[in-house]
Amino acid sequence: MPARPPVIEPPAAPRARGVFAGLPPGTVRLIQITDPHLYADPAATLLGIDTLASLDAVLRLIREEALPADALLATGDLVHDGSAAGYARLRERLAATVRPAYALPGNHDDPAAMAAALREPPVTACRHVRFGDWSLVLLDSTTPGEDGGFLTAGELAALDEHLRTGARHAVVCLHHPPLPIGSAWLDDMALANADALFAIVDRHPSVRGVVFGHIHQPFDATRGGVRLLGTPSTCVQFAEVRPRFGVDTQPAGYRWLGLLPDGGIATGVRRLPAPASAVQLDAAGY
Ligand SMILES: [Fe+2]
Repeated sequence: MPARPPVIEPPAAPRARGVFAGLPPGTVRLIQITDPHLYADPAATLLGIDTLASLDAVLRLIREEALPADALLATGDLVHDGSAAGYARLRERLAATVRPAYALPGNHDDPAAMAAALREPPVTACRHVRFGDWSLVLLDSTTPGEDGGFLTAGELAALDEHLRTGARHAVVCLHHPPLPIGSAWLDDMALANADALFAIVDRHPSVRGVVFGHIHQPFDATRGGVRLLGTPSTCVQFAEVRPRFGVDTQPAGYRWLGLLPDGGIATGVRRLPAPASAVQLDAAGY
């Protein structure tokens, strides 16, 4: 983790292009990818989906329709098997797509392997990034050996401190969703102490959004004026609103976020053009 957060000034006059077209000058253009689940074996599949090929296709889509962007955010489950080779491959892919890129861990990640692989720019596992009037705070909501999320007292204190000393507007980023999304099996492994997170968020009106991964599907809600955003995985998609585990053939995708000078957030989800027909629809878990 770098001792001092990187400071990046937003562009004076962003070019209007692709998903960011029409946003006002001074907008911070951010790309979120999540849950790529890479393996040491570059040909490995998750529930029938070649996770590396699927990530590559999503990154190609980002290059076609979302560049230039100011930064990329990767919200966990970067690697499925905790392998150094998986992290190295992710690093190489992200560095060739959007610089800088910032990453936080998910329940499938190996914290030590991830920290070792993502220590140096342009792809770092960092905690706090500043873009002019906006800051991103990246949290670690993982607990070793557990699929569900929890923010330790140290993590909550660091968030509070970042928000006290941060920019005018802030986005809080973590792997686990801080609210139920309507699928019981996923809601059982959401963020267990979301109340503690929201107690801090409610004290800091600078917080404009909370962005997360883990659910492998899009989600968009508002709580007390704060946007709560979940995003499709770059590989397998979980079926929406299901009591038990289920996948579907929705294509992989990414989220774009325009962090506006007035504190608003413009955002949308983009997906690959073709359905994921190789996915194992009868899978009972993963
Ligand atoms: Fe995941």
